[in-house]
Amino acid sequence: MDIEIKDLTVKVNEITVLDNFNLSIGKGEIHVIMGPNGVGKSTLSKVILGSSDYNVISGDILVDGKSILNLSTDERARLGIFLSFQNPIDIEGVTNQEFLKMAINSNRETPIGLYDFIKELEQNYKDLNFSKEMMHRGINQNFSGGEKKKNEIIQMKTLKPKFLILDELDSGLDVDSLDLVCKNVLEYHEKEKCSILLITHYNRILDKIKPDYVHVLVDGKIVETGDYTLADKIEKNGYKSFENSAKVLRED
Ligand SMILES: Nc1ncnc2c1ncn2[C@@H]1O[C@H](COP(=O)(O)OP(=O)(O)OP(=O)(O)O)[C@@H](O)[C@H]1O
Ligand SMILES: [Mg+2]
Repeated sequence: MDIEIKDLTVKVNEITVLDNFNLSIGKGEIHVIMGPNGVGKSTLSKVILGSSDYNVISGDILVDGKSILNLSTDERARLGIFLSFQNPIDIEGVTNQEFLKMAINSNRETPIGLYDFIKELEQNYKDLNFSKEMMHRGINQNFSGGEKKKNEIIQMKTLKPKFLILDELDSGLDVDSLDLVCKNVLEYHEKEKCSILLITHYNRILDKIKPDYVHVLVDGKIVETGDYTLADKIEKNGYKSFENSAKVLRED
């Protein structure tokens, strides 16, 4: 899936969060966005998925050349856009299994065979070191922080999206879980050639998921793009030097 975000300006409560933001992600590419807290990274991910909390003032989001701005969140998900939330929410009353079956069937003419579905789901739970029992719990209900993150990856493996947005996938995961989650994401990327937008604060995850590009988001815009070494530079020096370049961009 090709994603092109063009001159996107987004306001939240009358405050401009993204300001003429541009980003193109080609099929199979892995892009990383880093940036200070509150700069609009999660906003971007939710706007791509079509959250109604944010006002798109101008610009466009194109998927394979077609605007998705008029599509509902459901329709965007059915196209193959998947967001793993920074803070996944709990949903009582619908089990993980029921939710995933509904989501798969909403994109098929005939319902998926129950045997194949359960077999694959059990395998996906096993791949993330979860007991099968977890699939019968409410979505993320009574899951620990790290378990919620892993459950997002089970959803990903089951729904087979074409574009993954992974918002702080690494937050809250222990060392072994981070390894396991990255292994699953990489295997999926290799198999499905999906495009990935990964949001993170730390360069550690980039040792495992090698990105094609790292972008720095400051002041509503990408102020610098580079390879993974840009993440090392941030780890060493923080964002001060980028804030200066944001100023220059603003004055232009
Ligand atoms: N639904 C909302 N209602 C009001 N303000 C919001 C909402 N969502 C985001 N904001 C504000 O928009 C700004 C950007 O928030 P966002 O969550 O996108 O930041 P972020 O870059 O993901 O930060 P972090 O690194 O801390 O996750 C913040 O100032 C935040 O308070
Ligand atoms: Mg965030």
